[in-house]
Amino acid sequence: MSELITEIGELMTQDAEHSVLRNAAVVVDQGRIAWIGSSSRPPAADTVTRLDGRAVLPGWVDSHSHLIFAGDRTREFEARMAGESYTAGGIAVTTNATRQIGDSELGRLARARVAEAVSQGTTYLETKTGYGLTVRDEERSASIAHDEVDESTFLGAHLVPDGLDSDEYVDLVCGEMLDAVLPFVRWADVFCERGAFSVDQSRRVLTAARDAGLGLRVHGNQLGHGGGIRLAVELGASSVDHCNYVSAEDLEALSGSWAGRQGTVATVLPACDLSTKAPLAPARRLLDAGVEVAIATNCNPGTSYTSSMAYCVATAVLQMGLSVDEAVRAATRNGALALGREAGLDAVGSIVVGHRADLHALDAPSATHLAYRPGVPLTHGVWRRGVRVV
Ligand code: NIG
Repeated sequence: MSELITEIGELMTQDAEHSVLRNAAVVVDQGRIAWIGSSSRPPAADTVTRLDGRAVLPGWVDSHSHLIFAGDRTREFEARMAGESYTAGGIAVTTNATRQIGDSELGRLARARVAEAVSQGTTYLETKTGYGLTVRDEERSASIAHDEVDESTFLGAHLVPDGLDSDEYVDLVCGEMLDAVLPFVRWADVFCERGAFSVDQSRRVLTAARDAGLGLRVHGNQLGHGGGIRLAVELGASSVDHCNYVSAEDLEALSGSWAGRQGTVATVLPACDLSTKAPLAPARRLLDAGVEVAIATNCNPGTSYTSSMAYCVATAVLQMGLSVDEAVRAATRNGALALGREAGLDAVGSIVVGHRADLHALDAPSATHLAYRPGVPLTHGVWRRGVRVV
């Protein structure tokens, strides 16, 4: 069944030319974009949806989230708002809560979070393990992530569990735990930070994961300056996420990674920065240095309990100095780039003939309204693989 979606006021394609088409129409067929053109000369289709001048952009690609967890950390958030600082230690609170519930309840919670994200225009989602931290709990988290989201990531190296020696835990992560999660994940990640895993430990985890065939991602430079960004570049990671503390050397490494080839995407997490009162990641400086920047929610119960990509995009425009086009690109096409899904048969994050038909119609005439009317629920319609789901 083909569908003509027409009378689009502004179609922000996020294609290579950043094309923005007025009075546009799109045909979706068999889950893919089949045609793009003017609403005055559309081809025939089985069904027709008229959008009365609303804007359409690619569905959000949320390339960093932690949805496999139980419990919440309201008290910790309140303490932070009262002046406490964030430490990675809170991960243990969520890990304890997560270990206590059964597989089906853990799956149900993840499914509800995915549904919440989709209802706000997210059409492609990555999520991580990392609140299990035993072989069994990481394996079931990976299996649930595999079932519930588009891309799943092994983050056994999130925190050293209480009572374990950190090097022995790294041995476990690189050995039995990696073997157990391997059937369920495409990526491995590591929290490379003082208080979590050192650069050497992180390198061991990432090298073992790469040898096992996984793509690499890194949590880097969130809580202070350190070697996370440079390690990510050194190992050819697809993405280094957080990037709150970026030195001149880090910037040079990141921009150098883009010299004539696919480099390491810098994924910024604006909602996390606000919730932890961290310095906002220098997204403008990264872009100006030629680094590809993605925006993601980092939805998790500790540092960023939101599934709203629109909130992150608005923050990037209002507080990080990005244009609307740059912020939307970072939240769509560059999220796909961070996941290696920007081109080819599985391409998402841009509205291009042949790509997956993941569309987000706003109840507004332009994407500018995302920042102009922050906090207003602007999602009018969502199509995933060509099927209208909202
Ligand atoms: O990306 N930084 C590490 N992991 C999460 C936070 C985890 C937590 O505090 O529960 C993050 O912010």
